[in-house]
Amino acid sequence: MMKRVLLTRIFPERAAEMLSNAGFAVTQWQEDRPMLKEELIQMTQDHDAILCTLTDTIDKAFMDACPRLEVISQFAVGYDNIDVATATLKGIPVGYTPDVLTEATADVAFGLMINASRNMFFMHKQIIAGQWGYFRPKAHLGMELKNKTLGILGMGRIGTAMARRCRGAYNMSVIYHNRNRNESAEKELNARYVDFDTLLAESDVLSVHCALTRDTRGIFNKASFGKMKHTALFINTARGGVHNETDLIEALERGVIWGAGLDVTNPEPMLPENPLLQMEHVAVLPHIGSATSEARNAMANLAAENIIRFFRNREMHSCVNPECL
Ligand code: GLV
Repeated sequence: MMKRVLLTRIFPERAAEMLSNAGFAVTQWQEDRPMLKEELIQMTQDHDAILCTLTDTIDKAFMDACPRLEVISQFAVGYDNIDVATATLKGIPVGYTPDVLTEATADVAFGLMINASRNMFFMHKQIIAGQWGYFRPKAHLGMELKNKTLGILGMGRIGTAMARRCRGAYNMSVIYHNRNRNESAEKELNARYVDFDTLLAESDVLSVHCALTRDTRGIFNKASFGKMKHTALFINTARGGVHNETDLIEALERGVIWGAGLDVTNPEPMLPENPLLQMEHVAVLPHIGSATSEARNAMANLAAENIIRFFRNREMHSCVNPECL
């Protein structure tokens, strides 16, 4: 019998095309919004596979309610929306899409750093509000990045790509904290491994690139912002759950840190009345790290291929829990 695949969002067309061409019956969720939890469960009932993304909650309740499900293919590199331990217990492999979005996401981190450091988003809003004003020698001063210290939390693919940009463009010194030492980054970027408190204390720009896990949830809170430099710029393009947003707002309001660039917020979507959106040294984007045609098409390819390969040969290009293959 034909295997049935549910696409939980409107993904680049090639995902559905590849699956149809490979002989799968494809169901496409037609609305722009993510499905509600009950809708997702109901739709998944008669499917063997889902191609999903970070806006879908794939927890134990979902998996218990969908016993026919054989494989989960995530369209994202992060997979904190999926209870991987439960999937593994049930023998369900979870695919994901690393590598192909590395450069796109590092570009957003780098762009946020430059934009926040020169108040660009804020100044743009001033112009729109009719407040161009005149040249003011002492107003709206930003910070330079040349020769500063870049701290990376999570020196994986994206963290390394960000560090490479910062070294090349600004000769920044790189320090990092990570679950494991990354010797190739140390060699290539002259990066120095430090403990978390040293990362906080020494970074002029601190850029977050780690996964959201039990260990990293909320680790940027009042206490950790308090250990950072008053002149520091905090960048998060990983997951909003890594920072406590109330504490971040307070740290910025009180001058505990200088500025922030966020592509991920806590919660998402950010409410329009969030004070971060009015702050001079803050730049916020709505989670567009991987949003280039190239990256999103490649992610669609990979996510579809992970499903196709699983049903053909019980293999995947990229799998979070390969013990299930
Ligand atoms: C996007 O946030 C991703 O994890 O790919």
